[in-house]
Amino acid sequence: MSYTEESVWDTVLLNTFVVCKKKCKVYFHHGTLIWETEAPPHSRATLPVEDIITVDYVHTNDLSCCSDTGRYIPDLAGSSQDLDYVDNSVQHLAFKIHYVNHEKQNKWRYRVVTLKSSDPRQVSTWVKTFRTLLKGFTHRPKRLLVFVNPFGGKKRGLKIYEKAVKPLFDIAGIEVDLTITQRQNHARDTLLSEPLSDFDGVVCVGGDGTFSEIMNGLITRTARDQGVDFNNPNNELPRPALRVGVIPGGSTDTVAYCIHGTTDIETAVIHIIIGESSGLDVSSVHNQSRLLCYYASVISYGYLGDIIRDSDKFRWMGPKRYDFSGFKKFLANQGYEGEITLAVNSSNAHEDSKCFKDCRRCLSQKDVRFDDSSQEWKLIRGKFLMVNGANLSCACPRSPNGISPHCHMGDGCLDLVLVKHTSLINNLRLLLTLSNRMKSIYDLPFVEVHRTTQFTFQALPSPARTSSDVSVWNCDGEILVETTLHIRAHCQLLQVFFRGVEACLEDDQHCKCF
Ligand SMILES: *[C@@H]1O[C@H](CO)[C@@H](O)[C@H](O)[C@H]1NC(C)=O
Ligand SMILES: *[C@@H]1O[C@H](CO)[C@@H](O)[C@H](O)[C@H]1NC(C)=O
Ligand SMILES: *[C@@H]1O[C@H](CO)[C@@H](O)[C@H](O)[C@H]1NC(C)=O
Repeated sequence: MSYTEESVWDTVLLNTFVVCKKKCKVYFHHGTLIWETEAPPHSRATLPVEDIITVDYVHTNDLSCCSDTGRYIPDLAGSSQDLDYVDNSVQHLAFKIHYVNHEKQNKWRYRVVTLKSSDPRQVSTWVKTFRTLLKGFTHRPKRLLVFVNPFGGKKRGLKIYEKAVKPLFDIAGIEVDLTITQRQNHARDTLLSEPLSDFDGVVCVGGDGTFSEIMNGLITRTARDQGVDFNNPNNELPRPALRVGVIPGGSTDTVAYCIHGTTDIETAVIHIIIGESSGLDVSSVHNQSRLLCYYASVISYGYLGDIIRDSDKFRWMGPKRYDFSGFKKFLANQGYEGEITLAVNSSNAHEDSKCFKDCRRCLSQKDVRFDDSSQEWKLIRGKFLMVNGANLSCACPRSPNGISPHCHMGDGCLDLVLVKHTSLINNLRLLLTLSNRMKSIYDLPFVEVHRTTQFTFQALPSPARTSSDVSVWNCDGEILVETTLHIRAHCQLLQVFFRGVEACLEDDQHCKCF
């Protein structure tokens, strides 16, 4: 629980209200709102104050029943300043609680419930009490810088923002500075040049590419402002002060999926509004002289690099080109010689364990410093179908439901996944395993996984150096033609808006309010 002030814990309210046409005893104590029907059939619902977005007075002409369906009900009362003014002149016989509810499959939903009374003083006491308590939630963002990519993912970005994001931000009273991106790197360049101190966070509505721009812009800006040379891979990078919200709206939404465990848009918006955050590991990619990029999900050499490179040749085929190119590459079963040097037994590499919100392992890694002086290195040489520096948050090999949003997002490690060059049959096994959520490629005998903090890769082309000897790196969908790279994980470099799931795992009935 993030709210520890005594006032929440000490506040006690008890009254009778009409909720959904039923007379209910409603009480609030120990930070939880509870209501029970007075007459049979008995029912009881609980709502922790952390799940409340806001409370509103309801004007007498809006005494329709409770609107528990949660579809965006316009804020009839206007802004909260107006309400305080209205308070003195008009008496209200009902109020609305806007809250969020945890549903199945990592989804969250916005809901509203109306409580009616015959005594306006009661209504006013409840509303004032909740408003005071909610003011104490200082971790909730009040001003956000929002970037919408109008071109990504079937060009739905703007519509998503207008229909699903803005209405909820309005209810939560969040002020928005909106930029509709007009070109590539627009978001990144804005973050590099504009003043940022007025904001509590940066939000992107787009796919992995848009997120990547935000991430690269924020990290580079922070390093530059603090005079840290980011072109030196041995320098520790300062953590950006602004938190990042990821709202899926692209053609690939891997990052949003990895963080939230779903690509549901409303869920992503709710994580931002509630304002809790977790550290996300980010990896830097350097060539021998400078920084090339940062990535949060996966960098891949070989098979996946080839697909991206060659699909450019088949641009005329549209999105199908990925399938076509992938199929061709699959049949070609091309292997690439390479040499890998990886850090072993580094101070923050651990064996596998599960991770939940505020996980001790992630927390303990928060302040680990780079120390390469006693670093041991391991050399691996071989012919590979694919080399991956993988998916920090998605790389949990065995998660109960096949997805892994709760696997160490911030333990400072990356998984180096080496897929050896073997037979076509094995490649087929690989593809089948990748597409099956219940299976893990980590179990395949020709796949080697090393958990590490950093590694270098060097392609070893044959002396003849034909072009098919070397592949390219695919870094979050971008091609890097340089083959000699140094990749390093930066522990919890970015704070992302994400509400953990621990409350629900420990105490399931809390999630099933109403
Ligand atoms: C590293 O990358 C930069 C930018 O792409 C390039 O200008 C430079 O020549 C590269 N350095 C080496 C040693 O490959
Ligand atoms: C790695 O660390 C463990 C315990 O910290 C130690 O027992 C082991 O010998 C180390 N292995 C190497 C290769 O340094
Ligand atoms: C990385 O994440 C993507 C998307 O969730 C998944 O399809 C892929 O299998 C993951 N790769 C690895 C190596 O875990």
